[in-house]
Amino acid sequence: MSLRLGDIAPNFTQQSTVGPITFHDWIGDSWAVLFSHPADFTPVCTTELGEAARLKPEFEKRNVKIIGLSVDPLEKHTSWAADIAETQGTALNFPLIADADRSVATLYDLIHPNADTTATVRSVFVIDPAKKIRLELTYPASTGRNFVELLRTIDSLQLTDKFKVATPVNWKAGGDVIITTAVSDEEAKTRFPQGWKTLKPYLRITKQPVAS
Ligand code: BEZ
Repeated sequence: MSLRLGDIAPNFTQQSTVGPITFHDWIGDSWAVLFSHPADFTPVCTTELGEAARLKPEFEKRNVKIIGLSVDPLEKHTSWAADIAETQGTALNFPLIADADRSVATLYDLIHPNADTTATVRSVFVIDPAKKIRLELTYPASTGRNFVELLRTIDSLQLTDKFKVATPVNWKAGGDVIITTAVSDEEAKTRFPQGWKTLKPYLRITKQPVAS
């Protein structure tokens, strides 16, 4: 089944490096990033998991839990964790799902047979506290993801959930934002008292609002 933005992330119970996890219970009131990787003991995946572990405090600041997945068994995950700690300088500090029976991979459509018949692709799902899928990315096995970009997209999602704004190309937290077209100039006067610049009636730029 292919999953779309706005769909409820399918729930599952599966083994992980921290014991069995029932996904929706594990997410609780947080946001979550579920990311799949092709296989244990592979170089790109090793660097990705090290970087995810290093950035875990940044995800936590945003109330986001992170969880990895591959179709390798639990024993393999556990022995690979030692290599991650040794080579990446950060030990695994979040759960890795051991999806040996591929039940989660099937639910989330993580095996793309025309790319690889057995390994999971590098997919990412950003899931909000209502368990809705808010962002999906799929990378090929040979390309490591950019976890700083995931933080940036989460900053955008959390900001645009709070204010009637959208974030422009290459936006970073603190940068100027766009007033959405649903907001009239009249309404904008109260929502954005700091003012804005109108480049076109549909393109109005303002300072990033700050949550009170
Ligand atoms: C890697 O993580 O290095 C990798 C995994 C599967 C295929 C190619 C590269």
